[in-house]
Amino acid sequence: MPIAIPCATRLTSVSRRCRRACPDCASSISTAITEQLLAKGVARFAIFQEAFRAPAAAVIASDRPFNVHFQRSGQRHVWTRESGPLLSFAERLGIPLPSGCRVGQCESCAVRILQGEVKHLHAAAPDEPDTCLTCQAIPISDLTLDA
Ligand code: FES
Repeated sequence: MPIAIPCATRLTSVSRRCRRACPDCASSISTAITEQLLAKGVARFAIFQEAFRAPAAAVIASDRPFNVHFQRSGQRHVWTRESGPLLSFAERLGIPLPSGCRVGQCESCAVRILQGEVKHLHAAAPDEPDTCLTCQAIPISDLTLDA
C-alpha cells in the first residue's frame, strides 16, 4: 500500500492492520499519514500510533469538585483535583473500567459521556465528541458516564 510520506517515517503494513512510527516528526505528519490510510479504506481502529514525548504537566484550572455519576455501575462520587484521571478515580472506588496502555494511545478505555464535559490531560480527545479516554480525562463539569 503506497503512502506518500514526507520524511523518513517507517510504515509497515500487515494485512489490513497498519503500524506507523515517526520518532522525529511533529504530529501533523502523523495526522497526514492517518488521513491517507483512512482514504485508502483502512479502518481507524486498525491504525496504531506510537508517540514518544515527555508528558506535559497537567494544568487543572479549577479546584472545584464535580459530581461524577457512573450510570451503569449505579454509583455517584465527588471528584476533586486530587482524584486524577477518571480511570484511576474509578479504580480506587472499585468501579471496573476497560483499559490498556493508560497513556492515551490505544483508546481501549473509551467511555461514552452521557452528560457533562471533560478535559483530556496529555492526549488528544477522541474524534467522537461524546466519548472520553478515561485514562486521560478529568471532569470540568458535573459528569455522567456510561460506565
Ligand atoms: S488505556 Fe489506552 S487510551 Fe486509555
